[in-house]
Amino acid sequence: MNTEKIWLVTGASAGLGLILVKMLLDQGHKVAATSRDGDALLDAVGAKLEGSFLPLTVDLADERNVRRAVDATVAAFGGLDVVVNNAGYGLQGALDSLSDADLRGNFDVNVFGVLNVIRAVLPRMREQRGGHVFNISSILGFDGGCEGWGAYSATKFAVSGLTEALAAEAAPHGVRVSLVYPGRMREARGAHGRQPGGDPAKMAQALINSAQAQYAPLHLFLGRDAFDQARAKIQSVQQELARWREMSVSIGFADERRLAA
Ligand SMILES: NC(=O)c1ccc[n+]([C@@H]2O[C@H](COP(=O)([O-])OP(=O)(O)OC[C@H]3O[C@@H](n4cnc5c(N)ncnc54)[C@H](OP(=O)(O)O)[C@@H]3O)[C@@H](O)[C@H]2O)c1
Repeated sequence: MNTEKIWLVTGASAGLGLILVKMLLDQGHKVAATSRDGDALLDAVGAKLEGSFLPLTVDLADERNVRRAVDATVAAFGGLDVVVNNAGYGLQGALDSLSDADLRGNFDVNVFGVLNVIRAVLPRMREQRGGHVFNISSILGFDGGCEGWGAYSATKFAVSGLTEALAAEAAPHGVRVSLVYPGRMREARGAHGRQPGGDPAKMAQALINSAQAQYAPLHLFLGRDAFDQARAKIQSVQQELARWREMSVSIGFADERRLAA
């Protein structure tokens, strides 16, 4: 069976994006990848694969830039099957210590960049009745209780929320959507045996396997830490649901209770 696909990966000059692009090329896929610096991306990927790799210089916060990149991908490879919204960065600091510009900058890349890509690719995927969008959130986009990471967490909760809606909107058109929550990743550069975190190469392979699976995951937690943290959050919400049930359901009108009975 021919499983080779045409992929577009954002923020690919480092980290998970770079590893994913290298693995996809090794495994015979066609890959377009974006970076703020296309030359740095080409250097990092080190590819001399004529016809298989398309490095694109893109400012993800610029809608026209993004549309041009998607058009260039389709022109180069004749289609687009899988999109990975990977670009994103962490912004650390107590919520009252971060400036308006810092916060908006973080939302521009982590959220509006993703929305720009979605608007550019969805009409095409709907029309071809197929495609797969992976949005890389974070475990902090599922569990927000991490001191000093509130702003980043807010951007990733936004990614998580919009991705669940996207999945509902895209499913009737045969388009698959996966929301990925990585836990901490061991850095590819300078990684050593004692550094905590999951293996970004295994995360990249998990994305490739998910793209090839018959049924794609909507919620994909990657890493033991992400898995455990998600389970703890779910348990804690379940406990609060049970403890406060009476108050939660008590605020309806009396006739609503009768109707529900
Ligand atoms: N690292 C972790 O432990 C971890 C944990 C959970 C979730 N995540 C998420 O997983 C994804 C990949 O993480 P990573 O650690 O591999 O990322 P990374 O290496 O720090 O960066 C990935 C890419 O994001 C783009 N990027 C970073 N800062 C940017 C900015 N200010 N403006 C525009 N683009 C920017 C860069 O693209 P170019 O330089 O190529 O333009 C970069 O190559 C991100 O969405 C991240 O939030 C990471």
